[in-house]
Formats: sequence, C-alpha cells, structure tokens
Amino acid sequence: MADHYDLLIRNGTCVLPWGVEAADVGVRHGRIAAIGAASGATADDTVDARGLHVLPGLIDPHVHLRDPGDAAVESIPTGTKAAVLGGLAAVFDMPNTAPAITDAAALVRKQAYAETNAWCDIGLYVGATKSNIAALAELEAARGVCGIKVFAGSSTGDLLVEDDASLERVMRAGRRRIAYHSEDEYRLQARRGLFAAGMPYATHMQWRDVECAFLGTRRLLALAQATGRPAHILHVSTAEELDYVRDFRDLCTVEVLVNHLTQVAPDAYDRLGGFAVMNPPIRDARHLEAAWTAVRNGTVDCIGSDHAPHARAAKQRPWPDCAAGLTGVQTLVPVMLDHVNAGRLSLTRLVDLLCAGPARVYGVVGKGRLAAGYDADFTLVDLKRQRTIEESWIVSPCGWTPFAGMRVTGWPVATIIRGQPVMREDALLGAPRGRLVRFR
Ligand code: DOR
Ligand code: ZN
Repeated sequence: MADHYDLLIRNGTCVLPWGVEAADVGVRHGRIAAIGAASGATADDTVDARGLHVLPGLIDPHVHLRDPGDAAVESIPTGTKAAVLGGLAAVFDMPNTAPAITDAAALVRKQAYAETNAWCDIGLYVGATKSNIAALAELEAARGVCGIKVFAGSSTGDLLVEDDASLERVMRAGRRRIAYHSEDEYRLQARRGLFAAGMPYATHMQWRDVECAFLGTRRLLALAQATGRPAHILHVSTAEELDYVRDFRDLCTVEVLVNHLTQVAPDAYDRLGGFAVMNPPIRDARHLEAAWTAVRNGTVDCIGSDHAPHARAAKQRPWPDCAAGLTGVQTLVPVMLDHVNAGRLSLTRLVDLLCAGPARVYGVVGKGRLAAGYDADFTLVDLKRQRTIEESWIVSPCGWTPFAGMRVTGWPVATIIRGQPVMREDALLGAPRGRLVRFR
C-alpha cells in the first residue's frame, strides 16, 4: 500500500472480520482504502496505534437521547458527545421522546436536527402506535431510519401496541426490522395491584417478573411466525426467553443489555436503589449467567446500552413512581472491555456484538466491518489501560451512571468517524459532523 492517504492508522492490531492481525489502515475520502503494511505510504494525517487495538467503529443500537424532550436530562448533542467519548461511532436512537417520533413531520424535524447536531452517526427508530400503522411502510423507508420500535409492554412514554390484532397489523405493514420491547402488558397491569407504593425498589423485578417477559416474547414470536415478519427482541432478560428463542432463529434476532450482563439482584437494588430500576428489570444471578451463556453460544446478535437517562430527582422517587431507565451510552465500551479482560468474551465477539451484529440485524450500508470500501469508522482501544468510571467524566446533563466507582481494565482512547478523528484521550475534536446512517 505504497500510496498517499488522507489518514493512516499505523502499527495497530486490527480486529478484522477474519481474525486479529497487525496491520496499517489507509483512509481516503472517508472510507477504508487499504489494509496491510504501509511501508512507503504517505498521509496528510497519521495516528500511531502502537500498543492499541483498532476496532471497526462500534455501534450502540439502543439509546434514548430524549430529543425532543428534556435537554436538562439529555439531548442529541450531549448524548452523541457521550457516545464518542465512550468510543462509539454510531448510535440508533429510540422514538419515545416528547413528542414521540411517530409521524412524518416529527421524523423530518429530527432528521434535519440530527444532521447538524450529532457528534456521531445516528440511526432513528420510528415508533408504532395503533393509529399510525397505515403510515409505517412509508415512514420506515425515510433517510436514516433503522427500523420500527414497538412497545408491546408499557414503559417510559406513551407508546404502546399490546394486543395481538394490532401487533399483527404492524407486522404486516412494511418490511424493515421491527424491534420489540417485549413484556406482556396484560400481566403487567394484572400484577401491579399486588404491590404497594413505597415497597423496596427490588419489588420492580417481582412486578415485571420472568413470566411477563416470557409471555411477551412467546406471543410476539407466534405472531412473527404467522406473518413471516422477522422480530428483533430487545433487551432479552430471562433464561427462559434465551432458551425459547433458539427454536426461532429463522425469524428472531436477540439483543441483550450490558446492564443485564453486569448488574445483578439483589446487590444492584441494595447499592443503587432507584438508580437500578429499569424495564425489563435487573434480575438474579441465574439470568445473568444465562445471558453470558447466550453471548458465548451465539444466541445473542447485539449488545446495547439502552441508555435511558432520567433526572436524579425522578430516580429518587419511591417505587413505583421512580423513573425506569439507566444511563449507559458513555460506559458501554469501557464496561464491555472490562468483561473482555475478565475472560467473559473475546475481543472478536465484542466486535461482532457491537458492530457486525447491529449492521446485520438492521441492514446497515457501509458500516459494520473493518474492510476496504467501508466507512473509515474506528474505535481505538487500550486493552491494558486501567481506570475508574467516575461521574465527573459523564457528559449527559443528568450527570449520573450506575457504574460510578467501577474499576475497569480496557478503555477506548480514540474514536474516528468517516476518517475524521472526533475523540482522542478524553478530548473532543472538531465539531458535530454526524450523519444519518444508511440502511438497506
Ligand atoms: O427502563 C427503561 N427505560 N426501559 C424502557 O423500555 C424505556 C426506557 C426509557 O425510555 O426511559
Ligand atoms: Zn430502551
């Protein structure tokens, strides 16, 4: 590759789709132009990656950036800043904003706003409601749309499509990926009265129990089978679902969350109180172990943060008025790298789950692997760097993280998006230049 490049990443250890190799990477016009030995090559700009691993730009396929909504908690500029500081090159943003992204007007506004305010590339979910089903096929075809989000059980916001007839109509509209919040709404409602306000925060996992999640997923997969429409089940949180989905691999793809791989009951509720409350809930060690087994045996396609910031005051309210959702976009990569160092998964599998997986599930164009012709998105990581996650590092205005105080080994030290370095050693570089991700 004796040639001239806009950018050369030299001396790194690259996680390529076919293996981990020492290689230089040449970038031209925002794309990967060459991978190999750069002896004799010149470049306008060079990054020395000696001692570092060069990963394809990592993707968080599940964030709630609250925009439009409450900028005092989070927004697209702040949430995407958090993403690049945390080593992410792209995020896919959920539609349960205020107002929600459920029609063309809201979507067009968000497209234009994201293109001028995002620090990383961004995909946008469109929310399904019982009244926008006829418009979904057109909405999902718009620029930057990664797919449809269905809340089949209620959570933050008012998006909800809970009955089989409406769910089936959604599945028969359009062709793109539908991502489901899968908790059975009827069981959620039926059980709510069993628990009194002010009970311990761990009550959350008794209310939204294993059966709620399992029934939700069983019902969705039956409908997916009847309609032939693939189903991406978000944040699968129970051993029972992870076992069940294996019989549906022709239709079903699976996300698990870093929280469900890292936080465990009762410890999380004891330590964090309301700052451990999320939907679906953090559960006991049996489910955490099942999630790791599913990571290791290939059941899991993607890992997300489900970054869902709320004001501290909203998290401190007694159960069940305490807001559900945990911040996580900035800590996803450091926490997962720590799991790599602890031997829980390989770096190659991490790249599969945080890059190739989301690209495959959502049909991303031009991202998802470190290969010639693909976008020059890179996450450079120092696998040996030790650091404590501190709240002072968090740039989301809500200002907290459930991982505060966690000592991790492995840290993202640079983020490069379409050939432009946007983060190096905690410093943001340049200006927001994020674009809408392209999907098939
Ligand atoms: O805990 C959650 N928080 N689960 C969801 O499904 C939504 C999210 C939010 O938007 O706050
Ligand atoms: Zn979510």
